[in-house]
Amino acid sequence: MKKKTVLITGGAGYIGSHAAKEAERSGFTPVIFDNLSAGHKWAIQSGKFVKGDLADRAALVRVLRRYRPVAVMHFASHISVGESVVDPQKYYKDNLGNALNLFSAMLQEKVMYFVLSSTAAVYGDPIQVPIPEDHPKNPVNPYGDSKYILERILTSYDQAYGLKSTFLRYFNASGADASGKLGEAHAPETHLIPLVLDAVAGLRKEITVFGTDYPTPDGTCIRDYIHVTDLAAVHFLALKHMMKTGKSDFFNLGTGKGYSVKEVIDETERVTGLKVPVKYGLRRAGDPPRLVAESKKAQKVLGWKPKQSSLKTILATAWKWHQYFHSSAFSQKH
Ligand code: UFG
Repeated sequence: MKKKTVLITGGAGYIGSHAAKEAERSGFTPVIFDNLSAGHKWAIQSGKFVKGDLADRAALVRVLRRYRPVAVMHFASHISVGESVVDPQKYYKDNLGNALNLFSAMLQEKVMYFVLSSTAAVYGDPIQVPIPEDHPKNPVNPYGDSKYILERILTSYDQAYGLKSTFLRYFNASGADASGKLGEAHAPETHLIPLVLDAVAGLRKEITVFGTDYPTPDGTCIRDYIHVTDLAAVHFLALKHMMKTGKSDFFNLGTGKGYSVKEVIDETERVTGLKVPVKYGLRRAGDPPRLVAESKKAQKVLGWKPKQSSLKTILATAWKWHQYFHSSAFSQKH
């Protein structure tokens, strides 16, 4: 039987490139659509690549016509909470405008399944932890708000046009492909784990811990770290489920277990065998003390089992990737 095609927007980015790799393992053919503004050519390690911009509706129609995907997985997006507060226009204009363009091209070409990269940021400051999927949605920054608006747009598009979608609300995506040849590379990097690894490797002077006076056991923020390969796998389980039931749905993607910033640093020392140079600093604006997913729904409904999301495996794979990315072998190849 001919494999079904899935269009992956942002497939040259961190999570999208891992999803493209997973597509092949899950029996789909990935077609990557990316303008390479934040993604990397070297991260395209699976499927076909079409360079294009989501603002270009005609290009979207062309790619949908040419490859006839059964579904679109939408990873292309601005992702920095801090930046979204300083430059909300970028987030509302691009994250919403580009997605609307994509929906319009999909409806025209009758591609009726959509998987949205959503975020724990749709919940805002949680009133209940672990956070269940029916927790009130009260985003506290334009990034989270743009994703929540997309969820609501998609709900009305389902009712009006029958466009089915699954919202996947990621907690803290982390780790790297087991090959050690694919992983996270944001510029600028703001995420904790790659920055801790930079510090361990001597690429930065130290890691600054943002706040030590939170109401948590060791005073630092707690997050639910989920391995990017586990995250990628669930996209295809969700797609298959949606195609089988013909229904839209939504899921938290986390492990249900949280680790503090200090615990991440301590585990990094164990995994790498090196000392992390640490500076204790002030809180970063907008960081809730504890974000942990109630994560049973995806496991129950989709049969998803995170396999690589122990903190140790997350850090070991991230470290393997970090060493390769900063090696001469990588720079010679790319
Ligand atoms: N942290 C530090 N020092 C750093 C960087 C981060 O102490 O140099 C801390 C943060 O304060 C936070 C934790 O490490 O407590 C994790 O921070 P990240 O920046 O790695 O991740 P966030 O939890 O802030 O953000 C993640 C996703 C976002 C998403 C958000 C939901 O990356 O896309 O969760 O709240 F919106």
